[in-house]
Amino acid sequence: MIKRIDYRKLLSKNLKNFEYYQSGASLPDTIKKFGLEIKDIIKIDANENVFIEPSWMQEQIKKCLQKINLARYPDPLYIETRKSLAKYFGLDYNEIIVGNGSDDVFMTIFHTVIDNQSEILVAEPTFSMYKFFTDILGAKYSYVLLNDDFTIDVEKLLSKVSKNTKLMIVASPNNPTGNTFQTDKIKYLIENFNGIFILDEAYAAYSNISLIDWIHKYNNLIIIRTFSKSLGLAGLRVGIMALNKELADILRPIQIPYSLNIVAQYLVPQLLKEKEYFLKKIEEVKKEREWLFSELTKIKELKVYPSKTNFILARVLKDGLNAKIVCEELIKSGIIIRDRSKVPLLSNCIRITVGTRKINLILLKQLKRILGD
Ligand SMILES: Cc1ncc(COP(=O)(O)O)c(C=O)c1O
Repeated sequence: MIKRIDYRKLLSKNLKNFEYYQSGASLPDTIKKFGLEIKDIIKIDANENVFIEPSWMQEQIKKCLQKINLARYPDPLYIETRKSLAKYFGLDYNEIIVGNGSDDVFMTIFHTVIDNQSEILVAEPTFSMYKFFTDILGAKYSYVLLNDDFTIDVEKLLSKVSKNTKLMIVASPNNPTGNTFQTDKIKYLIENFNGIFILDEAYAAYSNISLIDWIHKYNNLIIIRTFSKSLGLAGLRVGIMALNKELADILRPIQIPYSLNIVAQYLVPQLLKEKEYFLKKIEEVKKEREWLFSELTKIKELKVYPSKTNFILARVLKDGLNAKIVCEELIKSGIIIRDRSKVPLLSNCIRITVGTRKINLILLKQLKRILGD
């Protein structure tokens, strides 16, 4: 007989408000559901940098693999990796923590600071993983809404701070709205909040604004960066936080050991020497973003929002259609974008990662067909 226990009774009480996070689409799942072939799929739902040639990255990895013994653990302190990042960002290596994607470094902050009495404060709509981290630890997720034009009301946000608010998180540029927030507003928030202020700069390479050196002015500031959105390593998982050394020394021991894998540990310093290549690719994305934006605005059934990232948010205006239907119709022709219509303020909104010109032409053709333009 099979032994059976009721494990639901064992689940953490913290999970009572837990909502599943829906990441980008699973390719095998989509292929099966829609009867597609991998070669016909255009995946522009997760804001990866599709301009980086896979063959270029494979060459980089090949060079790097020669130095690596996969049977060994990575350096537990990632010293050479942190030194290369510190040099790149103009910081000291003691001011850098690395991890398995920025989600991982976020989780280290949460594990160190948050318990089930704590509150996290954000302005919605924003990156949905902040709620995931909060819910998983049974903490309280507090938020105010952005203004209708996606600007931030700093007084409204600060008025929500309670004695339990430990973290305030702002992404600039913001996902999924695509805009940046004014630097003086971010400054005001950091200066007037007596908890840890996290500024998520996942898309900073596309906006040309970074406040990373402010960690020298404010010891309550943590800047988060990722290699997923502009540097072509979403699949390898590399995330970074930059912060005051004293706080870094508190957070580092809380991290799960070896959270940056050994390939990433060696590849990051090597890639940082290829700055020219990445700057060129980032410029190509930005140029294409502007072209795609202007083409999308010609579709009168869409309201398109300006972007400082590598994705574009648009609202479906056509009667009888909605974001969900548009996404489903696009998938039938192999194009995967993101339905964001359940997010506060974003009814009927879709989010599209900037593709190459070839990708964008296919997308535009299908969008016009679906929207009857
Ligand atoms: C604002 C923001 N921060 C962080 C991330 C996660 O990045 P990573 O791949 O490093 O976990 C994303 C990914 O969509 C994002 O949009």
